Amino acid sequence: MHGRFSYTLSIIVKTSRFVYHEIMITKNVREALLQRRSVRAYQDKPISNEDKESIFQAILRAPTAGNMALYSVIDVQDAEVKRQLSVLCDHQDMIARAPMCLVFIADFQKWFDYYRAEDCPQKSGKPWREPGLGELHLALQDSIIACQSGVVMAESLGIGSCYIGDVLENGEAMQKLLNLPRYTMPSCMVIMGYKHDTPVGKLSARCPATDMFMTDQYQLRSKEALESAFNGQERQAHAVNRLPYGNAGTLADYYYEKKYITSFMKEMNRSVAWWFDRWEKGRP
Ligand SMILES: Cc1cc2nc3c(=O)[nH]c(=O)nc-3n(C[C@H](O)[C@H](O)[C@H](O)COP(=O)(O)O)c2cc1C
Repeated sequence: MHGRFSYTLSIIVKTSRFVYHEIMITKNVREALLQRRSVRAYQDKPISNEDKESIFQAILRAPTAGNMALYSVIDVQDAEVKRQLSVLCDHQDMIARAPMCLVFIADFQKWFDYYRAEDCPQKSGKPWREPGLGELHLALQDSIIACQSGVVMAESLGIGSCYIGDVLENGEAMQKLLNLPRYTMPSCMVIMGYKHDTPVGKLSARCPATDMFMTDQYQLRSKEALESAFNGQERQAHAVNRLPYGNAGTLADYYYEKKYITSFMKEMNRSVAWWFDRWEKGRP
């Protein structure tokens, strides 16, 4: 805080125009984080080059393990590839219509190729080993963190976004469509576009901080604690008649029926096991 205060102060001394700019950016970041919501329908116009560049720069500036940039980003522009992606991602048509569609790839292939191209194993004289699940996990972290930086930048520019979890389904077809080599795996996907209007209505509920943050060690939650934690979400679902059993069910019933025991979750679990297996064992 002290650092930012003195930084802002130093800009005040420089020029008042820059100060205004600094304050606007600070406000935008706060709003972008606290007012963000998923947006699934966009204006029918492309993202400007300037805004795209800002989003890409935010992605690149994100922290990355060891500064190794263990990810790649596929900017899907081809209409047919987008269409196929939308089919593979549980037929979510909004993907095909979205002005921008970014697939984030956990990527150790580049270092695998780089190490070998530079003859590192031979020069070190130590036995070669294949990339493991540790490398995969770091690459997943890198790419998801980078994606979220892009989402926040987009939001600050009036560009709405929505993650697409289904990018983890249909691994074999996804691998072919995106031409992904062995030491890569999709980590997340996001679609973006200019918002129609400033969205109105309530943000989706979240668990209260007291139910989310723990001190020092993990604590299992009682039934009562769980019901209390998810009470806000349950009330929102109830208000729109979304709960099962004639709107008399709990939020647990809703997610159990709508997510946990569905065929798409079964497919996602199969597909993720396939990606992990491919990374570890090189199959198929
Ligand atoms: C990992 C992840 C996967 C998601 N997948 C989808 C998706 O496939 N389709 C979709 O419409 N929304 C998807 N979402 C958006 C969530 O439904 C949304 O973030 C959540 O309902 C909370 O709403 P909010 O973002 O408006 O606060 C996904 C979000 C995340 C973080």
